[in-house]
Amino acid sequence: MINDSSNELFMEGMGLMSKETVIILDFGGQYSLSIARKVRGLNVYCEILPYHASIERIQEKNPLGIIFARAASSEAESGTEEISDGSAEAFEWEIPVLELDEADLEDQILKNFLYDICGCTGLWTMANYAQESVCDLKEQMKGKKVLCALSGGVDSSVAAVMVHKAVGDNLTCIFVDHGLLRKDEGDQVEETFKEQFQMNIIRVNVQERFLNRLKGVTDPETKRKIIGEEFIRVFEEEAKKIGAVDYLVQGTIYPDVVESGVGAALVKSHHNVGGLPDYVDFKEIVEPLRELFKDEVRELGEELGIPKELIWRQPFPGPGLAIRVIGDITEEKLNILREADAVFRDEIVKAGLDQEIWQYFAVLTGMRSVGVKADVRTYDYTIALRAVTSIDAMTADWARIPHDVLNTISSRIVNDVEHVNRVVYDITSKPPSTIEWE
Ligand code: XMP
Repeated sequence: MINDSSNELFMEGMGLMSKETVIILDFGGQYSLSIARKVRGLNVYCEILPYHASIERIQEKNPLGIIFARAASSEAESGTEEISDGSAEAFEWEIPVLELDEADLEDQILKNFLYDICGCTGLWTMANYAQESVCDLKEQMKGKKVLCALSGGVDSSVAAVMVHKAVGDNLTCIFVDHGLLRKDEGDQVEETFKEQFQMNIIRVNVQERFLNRLKGVTDPETKRKIIGEEFIRVFEEEAKKIGAVDYLVQGTIYPDVVESGVGAALVKSHHNVGGLPDYVDFKEIVEPLRELFKDEVRELGEELGIPKELIWRQPFPGPGLAIRVIGDITEEKLNILREADAVFRDEIVKAGLDQEIWQYFAVLTGMRSVGVKADVRTYDYTIALRAVTSIDAMTADWARIPHDVLNTISSRIVNDVEHVNRVVYDITSKPPSTIEWE
């Protein structure tokens, strides 16, 4: 964990921390991301570039080695006519090259290449990174005003705490509470950062405003668009009250910036915000997590002393519960969903399954069906439970939750949550389903 005195000490060694970089040339198929994770796991910094990157672009990174990443099903076959100048020339350049197929991805091969052939020494550790980055931010932002949109999610939380370590009270965080968070989440976010970290947080309560904007909207992509746009508008309005700032913090992480070798079709527009705020008066964007994978962000969060519950929290989509209420959204539906979801989460934690399941949540299906409660006919909602295991959310398998746990969850939901008389468990993997229902 870092503190101010260790920062000072670390400043002296900063020159030593120059990155030993390895470049991964992406020939498609998501495979390059798996290799990159493995390389980082072996304590070597790496970046992914598309297979058509020019030799100049590769050389700019000053790499100690290059890995060609090609999945078996990759569209970009390695026929010479399809290899760009950069990747073809890399063979002639005096630098170690590893030509790697999906089947070859073994730690020992990578380790030999990185350490014995490229001469890397394994400087890439999260402790080093945290120290160096906070020092750099301190230097860069001395005496400057910084603004951050805090959602309470892992990425924005780690980014905000990191910048706070560097600039203290010069950072103001705006937390837009759109009312689409899980039960008690808004209060928890406010409390953690205000009380525990003593950060300047402005909580904007705009629950009603979002509900009004979403009234009658059923299409998932329209919901996302409205939420993204409205979020920006609220943020802008609040930022205006603060006035001009020097920096705007964004919690962008590495998978968001990787330029793939081969384009992939859009399935869902996963961007939480509808672009950059036009009317916020800032000079520069700062993205302190731009180089990190999600699990590295979590490791960094621990280094920075952020509570484990927050760091290891399951991913939660920016549009929140809006895409877990199927069809149109009302306050009543949101409340039903919140209660059912809280029961589900509580029982998963009690059963000790929260670490092994990637994401688990309730969905309020738009469907109502007949049931019977205390001898009276009911016509109420069906709650779907979704729980998946995954490594990176690109693919996922449904979690094999023991039947007795499912039974407890189902009984509690139908007994405790009004207007729910049926609970179903989603047993589809991704693909062909997606993790979220919308
Ligand atoms: P899908 O449903 O596409 O989700 O399998 C993959 C991962 O992305 C999350 N997700 C979102 N995250 N904004 C987000 O920030 C979104 O609009 C969004 N849609 C899905 C989902 O929770 C899962 O972790």
